[in-house]
Amino acid sequence: MTQEIVVILDFGGQYTQLVARRVRELNVDCEILPSTVTLKQVQSLSPRALILSSGAGSVFTQNTTLNDSRFDQLGLPMLEIGDGMELMAKDTDLLKDFLFNTVGLTGNWTMDAFVANTIQQIRTTVGPSQQVVCGLSGGVDSSVAAVLVHRAIGDRLTCLFVDHGLLRKDEAEQVMETFTRRFKMKVIKIDAADEFLTKLAGVTDPEQKRKIIGTEFIRVFEREAAKLGQIDFLVQGTLYTDVIESKTATGAVIKSHHNVGGLPEDLSFKLIEPLKHLFKDEVRRVGTELQIPEDLVWRHPFPGPGLAIRVLGEVTREKLEILRLADAIMIEEIKKAELYREIWQAFAILPDIRSVGVMNDQRTYAYTIGLRAVISHDGMTADWYRFPPEVLATIANRITNEVPHVNRVVYDVTAKPPSTIEWE
Ligand code: XMP
Repeated sequence: MTQEIVVILDFGGQYTQLVARRVRELNVDCEILPSTVTLKQVQSLSPRALILSSGAGSVFTQNTTLNDSRFDQLGLPMLEIGDGMELMAKDTDLLKDFLFNTVGLTGNWTMDAFVANTIQQIRTTVGPSQQVVCGLSGGVDSSVAAVLVHRAIGDRLTCLFVDHGLLRKDEAEQVMETFTRRFKMKVIKIDAADEFLTKLAGVTDPEQKRKIIGTEFIRVFEREAAKLGQIDFLVQGTLYTDVIESKTATGAVIKSHHNVGGLPEDLSFKLIEPLKHLFKDEVRRVGTELQIPEDLVWRHPFPGPGLAIRVLGEVTREKLEILRLADAIMIEEIKKAELYREIWQAFAILPDIRSVGVMNDQRTYAYTIGLRAVISHDGMTADWYRFPPEVLATIANRITNEVPHVNRVVYDVTAKPPSTIEWE
């Protein structure tokens, strides 16, 4: 099967990534390159066509001179897209017509083709006696990356799952259950809760918490990886957005959150990054193709420092326990109401405040739980989610009835900006 690839030239278009996703949804592979790229670099990909993405409001939309004559020399079919918003709606006819009629592509970039090719590539990269390690977090990206590599090389992959004691209710058990029982993968769970919580004792500053957790995570990971003997490769769940942000003209705008809780780039392993060509929604499609449980494939993003940045102020076991119970109730009710997939992230927060309440005619003085749920495309901006009121009411009722030491529940109705999604 010949691989059909289209190059999207980014002239600073605000919607370049969206254009790329629309192209791939039509089962055509594409690569985004900055408009400053050399002709040679474009040719090295052997593209079948070029799409020039300028975006609304750019200088090019006024005089239609975007058709940079430099690229004419390549003699490839070209399509200019001035305003990607058209594509945001339903209007992919323009693209379809160009790709399938003008260029004559077949649309053979499917998820099963991607999985088959990637497995083949991993087998070629990793020699028969080489060993691979993967840091499993239970998130979508690392899970899909690990399962792909496992499909390719089986037990030559060892996964390390660091339980820092800051995970959600039953999360560690679910991760182990999925990967060891269902996928029969070699996963080593490291119970490092004591180490992390000792280091966090007395710390209240959010950035200091992040720093401690980040440093500790790397220390524990390196120590445990060293116990495995000779390791040649490290699997990373890097996505396409991480790769292109340093290359495109729009890089600054789409820069994702610093990934605290990740691994540094200077570890002494070579990297395997099986998802570095994919957008998040494509990773989910690959996950489904690999029969990873839906719950995991559609899981909301969860920050590396975990619940430590949702327990405001000092992190203690007691507070973590309260937060875990409240959070689990919130998520359970959201799933019951079938709203989970509409929401980018939903979670509970435990602010460091107590207030007065009344229960069984007795005055109480107990914690407040904050609820946060947002819709977003990429986490860079977000709006608060408009819950049906009865769902909020059920969550609040259940939390105050079932979670000890809580007598009040509030819902966060701020957008990002000016707020952030997390409270710390
Ligand atoms: P904020 O709170 O900055 O969050 O609006 C944007 C997205 O990033 C996640 N987040 C983090 N992820 N380490 C991570 O791996 C972190 O320290 C961290 N802080 C925030 C957050 O959950 C949201 O998805």
